[in-house]
Amino acid sequence: MAKKFYVTTPIYYPNDIPHLGHAYTTIACDVIARWHKQRGDEVFFLTGTDEHGKKIADTAEKNNLTPKQFIDKLIPIFKDYWKKLNIEYDRFVRTTDKDHEKVVQEILQKCYDNGDIYKGEYEGLYCIGCEAYYTEKDASDGKCPIHGKKLEILKEESYFFKLSKYQNFLLDLYKKNPEFISPENKRKEIINRVKEELRDFSISRTSFNWGVKLPFDKKHVAYVWFDALINYLSGIGYLKNKKQFEKFWPADVHVIGKDIIWFHTVYWPAMLKSAGIKTPKKIFAHGWWTVHNQKMGKSAGNSVKIDDLISYAGVDSARYFLLRNAPFGDDGDFSEKALIDRHNNELADKLGNLISRVSGLIEKNGIEKTENKLLEKLNEKEIEKLFEEYKFDKVLNEIFAFIDICNEYVQNKKPWETKDKKVLYELKESILKIGELLLPFIPESAEKITSIFSLNKIKKPEPIFKKIQQ
Ligand code: MSP
Repeated sequence: MAKKFYVTTPIYYPNDIPHLGHAYTTIACDVIARWHKQRGDEVFFLTGTDEHGKKIADTAEKNNLTPKQFIDKLIPIFKDYWKKLNIEYDRFVRTTDKDHEKVVQEILQKCYDNGDIYKGEYEGLYCIGCEAYYTEKDASDGKCPIHGKKLEILKEESYFFKLSKYQNFLLDLYKKNPEFISPENKRKEIINRVKEELRDFSISRTSFNWGVKLPFDKKHVAYVWFDALINYLSGIGYLKNKKQFEKFWPADVHVIGKDIIWFHTVYWPAMLKSAGIKTPKKIFAHGWWTVHNQKMGKSAGNSVKIDDLISYAGVDSARYFLLRNAPFGDDGDFSEKALIDRHNNELADKLGNLISRVSGLIEKNGIEKTENKLLEKLNEKEIEKLFEEYKFDKVLNEIFAFIDICNEYVQNKKPWETKDKKVLYELKESILKIGELLLPFIPESAEKITSIFSLNKIKKPEPIFKKIQQ
């Protein structure tokens, strides 16, 4: 029977157009979704935008637009970029979607009825960039540790969620499900912090109204993170499509960046527990990209635009580079040179040469079916295992080690002299396998490879990866 697989990206703030960082998470999820689809699983891949809260309200105001006018301009841009990057999502959820807003109210009410929400007053240091409060301890210099900007003091009447009540529940969850937080070093960090202290967190605002109204007090709007996390439920039809929800929940993996791990591994499971809903199976936190070893950001003015990212060597080379150049879970550094080097050396030289040599030789000499000894040198089991652990760089490394083996095979067997059709058959079948394994990573090129080598009359094609002069 087909298994189900539910994968999500974080929902992005549409306060600006997406950049390399957003593309990275989204591409990784697309690779995961495609991989599972290829294996016959029934997949749901959710992405979307996080449209409420002060950050969006303030940005819209600066642009002399209402929040809704402002974001409505950005959403088609997000969707266009995902299309350009060949992202095959199943739903693009917006937190302003009516069905989402209803689910937020439903969950708030459930937590409230369960006695986990109470009214109080909040005063604290707030970063609008993060949409989060900081304690003196986390921000001893009064600046946001992520954005480096001066924190604002906010004071307002607020409802709180009794997070403190869930300390044992959370520690137990991490203990019983060691795979819940990945990678392992992040898991340890979270466990230590949860053991130390869990403060109740504020879940409503009265100082602005751009958000979902609390069902039990309409003067308040929901805190943007409480609202946003719930997209993972509404996105698969928590209220609207019960059958679909029951099929796909709990999520198999929420892929996120390391900066938002606390919200996902602490707030989120506690909220779900309070509402009587199962917790997701896994939260995977990837690292951050720097650009020429500098922190990427608006203030530094060095954000890599998606148009630039794909302008150097095409969409597939960008996808390949991002997953190959840094272990998933670690930080990585972006440079145009590193991307072009990988494109030239790995995609154009190794893979490209194999394709053009073998297709040219088959065009001249033909093939003859035989037992495939060459393919036995591919360790597919190992590749499967590495993929399940989200070690994408190692998966690609293994595939390219086999590409090297194939190139050496051509070199050693000299089919241009021997005209050995059996050797060419082995090579053709091996290349088809390589195409299949690369499909989730570089879908457009992999489809080309498959179609070239599936024909009855194989012909040498135009190069799929052209070398780029630097
Ligand atoms: N809206 C929240 C997420 C809510 S999910 C319920 C949010 N949005 S975001 O637009 O600021 O960021 C989304 C993702 O982009 C995060 O996972 C973040 O880690 C990722 N990245 C942003 N800049 C990045 C890099 N420089 N490198 C890698 N990923 C980065 O947070």
